[in-house]
Amino acid sequence: MIRLSKSVVGRAESAAVAHVIEDIGYLGMGATVGAFEHQLEQYIGGGRHAICVNSGTAALHLAVQAVTKPGDEVLVPSFTFVATYQAITAAGCKPVSCDIRPDTLTLDLKDAERRITSRTTAMMPVYYASNCCMAKAYQAFAAEHGLRLVEDAAHCFGCSVEGQKIGSTGDVVCFSFDGIKNITTGEGGAIFTADEEVIEKVSDARLLGVQKDSEKRYTGQRSWQFDVVEQGYRYHMSNIFAAIGQVQLARFEKEFAPRRREIAQRYCELLSDTPHVKLTPMDYAHDIVPHIFALQILDGKRPLLEQRLKEQDIQYGIQYAPNHHLTLFHEDVELPVTEEVYKRIISLPMHPEVSEADIQQICNIINSL
Ligand SMILES: Cc1ncc(COP(=O)(O)O)c(C=O)c1O
Repeated sequence: MIRLSKSVVGRAESAAVAHVIEDIGYLGMGATVGAFEHQLEQYIGGGRHAICVNSGTAALHLAVQAVTKPGDEVLVPSFTFVATYQAITAAGCKPVSCDIRPDTLTLDLKDAERRITSRTTAMMPVYYASNCCMAKAYQAFAAEHGLRLVEDAAHCFGCSVEGQKIGSTGDVVCFSFDGIKNITTGEGGAIFTADEEVIEKVSDARLLGVQKDSEKRYTGQRSWQFDVVEQGYRYHMSNIFAAIGQVQLARFEKEFAPRRREIAQRYCELLSDTPHVKLTPMDYAHDIVPHIFALQILDGKRPLLEQRLKEQDIQYGIQYAPNHHLTLFHEDVELPVTEEVYKRIISLPMHPEVSEADIQQICNIINSL
């Protein structure tokens, strides 16, 4: 079987977890989380502060809660994982479904602009398939319209725009470190921001709203007498997760990123002349470290491709069912690009252990449809 995605972890991650269990002896949030956050800040740069939590969804939820108030409207592309929407409604806000651009498959600002009302206070673009080339445009749009910007960069760890890492600029940026992301902590996520108020709010909210507890936890202490002024959650990261993350971060630039880039470039080389394939152009040589590899299959041939892939035991993804189709978020809204892309999109195996033979087998199937 060729797997769609995979955690690439091994002895080094096991040893790091064993160190937490056997030597440190404290599995909750402590010094290892503090050290991982510091390493993330060094890696991403821009003087941003990193706050680690136990999922990407938790990162998005706390970020939205920190920059909005219940009842606010948040502009978001319907074409995203349901986590993006759940984070908005968890914060008591209303997701306002927007269309995507056909060239980037990310939020279309012209469409978003039409949907702004007096209640719109934030925008949440999603860097689908790691495509972050619009980051500066989203930041400029948010500034122009007085909106807070929460970037869903779950797919984008390690990607850059104009030489700056995603997370090093902008308002609030969220990553996911779930089992199959560019780096994993098992489950996990992080919020990057330079906004002191957001740093304080999300640091407290991840620890049940207990004020100023993070720094104490990093030195093995905690507050016994404290106040709570805002809704909080048990969203903090554990030392075990952080220990895995430290090893993954150390392996990322040398091992994971080059292989992911190479795989995407090989897919592009082998599929670029295929008439029934539409690729999304991306700078895999420099800016982009792809989390997924998604392409559009034209001429109604996707069902046939799905059948052929199943016959050869090759996993694929359909990412994502638009959120406005789901019962909870259902809306009669016209999103023509989203509807069309959803019929054509398919994700091919993408993880550092996909081999050249795998790529050739997959591309042969696509090219012979
Ligand atoms: C676009 C997007 N946003 C948010 C998330 C949520 O991240 P997590 O699974 O770590 O909660 C994901 C996870 O796959 C995602 O793909």
